[in-house]
Amino acid sequence: MKFYCLIVIYLFILCCHCQNSNELLTKDIVKAENTTIATTATTNTTNSLSANITTTITSPTPVASSCVCSDESLCKISRLNENTKPYLFWIINTEINQLKKTLSKDINILSIHKDYLTKEAVCYAKSLGIKVLVWFPVSGATRDYVVTEEGRASFLRIGMEKVNKFNLNGIDIDIETDLDSPYYEYLLEKFRELLPVAKGYTVLTDLPTNYNFVYDVKRKDRILNAVDYVAMMNYDQSYGLPYLGANSNHSQTLIGQETFLKAGFPANRLITGLPLYAYYGKCVTKDLYVEQCVLSRPRLNTAYSLAYINSIVSNNRTDVKLTSGLLWDQVSLAPYINYMVTTNLGYDIYQTRYDNALSLRLKIQNSKAKGGVAFFRLDNLYGMPEARINEIFEATNPNNLPK
Ligand SMILES: *[C@@H]1O[C@H](CO)[C@@H](O)[C@H](O)[C@H]1NC(C)=O
Ligand SMILES: *[C@@H]1O[C@H](CO)[C@@H](O)[C@H](O)[C@H]1NC(C)=O
Ligand SMILES: *[C@@H]1O[C@H](CO)[C@@H](O)[C@H](O)[C@H]1NC(C)=O
Ligand SMILES: *[C@@H]1O[C@H](CO)[C@@H](O)[C@H](O)[C@H]1NC(C)=O
Ligand SMILES: *[C@@H]1O[C@H](CO)[C@@H](O)[C@H](O)[C@H]1NC(C)=O
Repeated sequence: MKFYCLIVIYLFILCCHCQNSNELLTKDIVKAENTTIATTATTNTTNSLSANITTTITSPTPVASSCVCSDESLCKISRLNENTKPYLFWIINTEINQLKKTLSKDINILSIHKDYLTKEAVCYAKSLGIKVLVWFPVSGATRDYVVTEEGRASFLRIGMEKVNKFNLNGIDIDIETDLDSPYYEYLLEKFRELLPVAKGYTVLTDLPTNYNFVYDVKRKDRILNAVDYVAMMNYDQSYGLPYLGANSNHSQTLIGQETFLKAGFPANRLITGLPLYAYYGKCVTKDLYVEQCVLSRPRLNTAYSLAYINSIVSNNRTDVKLTSGLLWDQVSLAPYINYMVTTNLGYDIYQTRYDNALSLRLKIQNSKAKGGVAFFRLDNLYGMPEARINEIFEATNPNNLPK
C-alpha cells in the first residue's frame, strides 16, 4: 500500500475557468479521429532533453457513437460550477456494492484508476452528479510513459481512449517519476489540447509538496496553463525514518503548501491532498506506552486503510489489545495509540499514528491552499462503520467549511 502510494499520489483542480453552462455531449465534441498528435516537445527548461522527436502517432480512438450509460444525459461533459471547490476522491477498487455504500453525494469528483474503470461505477457516480476522471498513475516501473517517445504516444492514446470510451469529464495526470523531464509539462499540454476547457473538460495533475522545480517560472507557467488544478500530496511524510512519524503532519503539510504559494501557484488552484490510510509499526520497546516508537528491525512500518486502522483503535479486534489511551500529538495535530500483540515468546508493542475526522479537518481549515480537498482513496473506507465514514465527510467537505 505504502509503496503504491509513493507511486501514485497527487492531484489538483482549479476553478478559474470553471463554467457550468457549457454542457455538450462528448460524442459531439471529441472528433479527433484520424488526426495526428505530434510527440515533439519544445522546451526551454535548463534541463532540456534533446527534444527532437518528430514522430507522430495516430490519434485516440474515435468516440463511441453511443453514451456508455443508459441515461444519455449522464454523458454530458461539464465542469464544476465556478464557486464549487473540488472535493475529490481517488479510487482503485470500484466493486459496485461497496461503492454504493460509500460514495457520498458531497463528493464532486471521482478519479478512477485507469485499469479499474467500469461502466457501472462511472454511470453510478455520474448519476449522483459527480464528475469522473481517469486517474493515470506513472511510477518508476512505468516511466517509459514519460521518457520514451513510444511511451508518451501510448500515454496520450490510452488516456484518450479511456476518456472517450467512458464519456469521462477529463484526466488526472499522476506522474510520480522523472518530474525533472520537460516531457512532464509537455504531456500536460498535450492533454489540455485534446481536452479543452471550452468543451467542458477538466485536467488535473498531482504533485508532491517538496519539489523545488516549481520555482522554475517557465515550468510553473506551462503547468498552470495546462491544468485546472494541482493536487498536492501531503502524505508519506515519514517514510524511511527509524521511528514511526506522522503520515500527514499538520506542520509539514502547511510548509509544503507554502512552497507552491511562494512559487506563484494561485491558492484557488491548489488542492489539499490528504490520506485515508495510515502507518503502524512494531516498536523496540516492551513498555506499554511509548511516545516515540523506535521501529524494530526489520523495520515493520506498514500502511493500511483507515478502515483497518479504525478496527484497531476502536478496540474491535480480538488479536490486539490497546495499551495506551487514545493520544493526541500536539505538533503533528493527529491521534496515535499503542497496542499489544501477543506472540509465542511474549508480546510486542506497536504504535499507529493515523488521521481521524478532526486531524483531517484541521489540515484543511488551516491550509492556505484554497482550491479544494482530495483524498487517497475512497476505497480505504470500505468496511468502516457508516457513522465513522459520515463523520469524515461532514468534517472535510471544503464546500461546507466556514469561510
Ligand atoms: C480513418 O482512417 C482509416 C484508415 O485510413 C479509414 O478507413 C477511415 O475511414 C478514416 N476515418 C475517417 C473518419 O476519416
Ligand atoms: C527559447 O529560448 C530562446 C532563447 O532564450 C528564445 O529565443 C525562444 O523564443 C524560446 N522558445 C520558447 C518556445 O519559449
Ligand atoms: C534534430 O534533428 C535535426 C535533423 O535531423 C538534426 O540536425 C539535429 O542535430 C537534431 N537536434 C538534436 C538536439 O538532436
Ligand atoms: C511533525 O513535523 C515536525 C516538523 O515540522 C516535527 O518536528 C515533528 O517531529 C513531526 N511529528 C511527527 C509525529 O512526525
Ligand atoms: C467491529 O467489527 C464488526 C465486524 O467486522 C463490524 O460490523 C463493526 O462495524 C465494527 N465496529 C467498529 C466500531 O469498527
